[in-house]
Amino acid sequence: MKNFIANLPKAELHLHIEGTLEPELMFALAKRNHIELPYASVEEVRAAYRFSDLQSFLDIYYQGAQVLIEEQDFYDLTWAYLEKLAYQEVRHLELFFDPQTHTDRGVAFSTVIKGIHSALVEGGKRFGVSSKLIMCFLRHLDEDSALDTLEHAKPYRQWIEGVGLDSGEAGNPPEKFQRVFDLAREQGYRCVAHAGEEGPADYIWQALKLLHAERIDHGVRCDEDPALVDHLREQQIPLTVCPLSNTALKVYQTMSEHNIGRLLREGLLVTVNSDDPAYFGGQLNDNYEAIQAALDLSVGEIVQLARNGFEASFLSAEEKQSYLDALDEYVLTHPVAG
Ligand code: HPA
Ligand code: ZN
Repeated sequence: MKNFIANLPKAELHLHIEGTLEPELMFALAKRNHIELPYASVEEVRAAYRFSDLQSFLDIYYQGAQVLIEEQDFYDLTWAYLEKLAYQEVRHLELFFDPQTHTDRGVAFSTVIKGIHSALVEGGKRFGVSSKLIMCFLRHLDEDSALDTLEHAKPYRQWIEGVGLDSGEAGNPPEKFQRVFDLAREQGYRCVAHAGEEGPADYIWQALKLLHAERIDHGVRCDEDPALVDHLREQQIPLTVCPLSNTALKVYQTMSEHNIGRLLREGLLVTVNSDDPAYFGGQLNDNYEAIQAALDLSVGEIVQLARNGFEASFLSAEEKQSYLDALDEYVLTHPVAG
């Protein structure tokens, strides 16, 4: 099964590029940019990655991002991640970036996006991965800051597929950004939003009804509202679930408590993703393996999760079909017992 998962064609739809910063690269960039880190060694950084909730992670994650200063830094970060995807058979990537994490420190929007974009173009060709970029607004900041970010993005509109919403959920409901998302939609962006990770099921309703989110990032707390679960199933609204993130941030204490298997069996369009792999101790394949083992998922269920990843993507119908054909071909030629 491990081998089957490793070679199965997959899509990744919930990945924060800043969350792929491995401690080794953090140290190398700190040295290059003459930045003092509050850690003496790579081991000390890894030891600090013990989280009690979302905020305890975000504090360390925003601190780590401070080593990213130059366009080359964003390029190197993105390139290093694409290299990791190649050996995991991830064929399509939709990744988030958080401009405000950088513009608030005086790094220009153009520096951030040019570095990420050129690595996606060059690395995508080199490693055979297609990609789409989603710009996230930090929900702990105010509406004006999000509106400024939307303005900064204007010259790069053609490089950005959609907008999203991330950072600390508690006390920052989707409704705070309704006007920002209205404007983004007018400008042709696809809309997604983190909701129902730590926040209540009502935040998922708000993301759907007020922000017109086409996909919900996380969304696992939907199961607190049966009417919402029915709606997600009937409308086939994708949830980009991140199992190892959820256990690292104590949304679930153990993987065996995770609801992804149940939601899948109830017919929801759930997908498997890695969120911030450098911080949560696992790449995409590790996420598939962890839920397979803890929830006793069948081969058919694993394949369905991988199919859902392509179905839930922002690829065209033709592009989706060609990835799904490759997936079917793989399944036909790699039978697994179980
Ligand atoms: N939730 C909210 N904000 C984030 C996350 C997340 O899982 N990862 C990076 N920023
Ligand atoms: Zn996330």
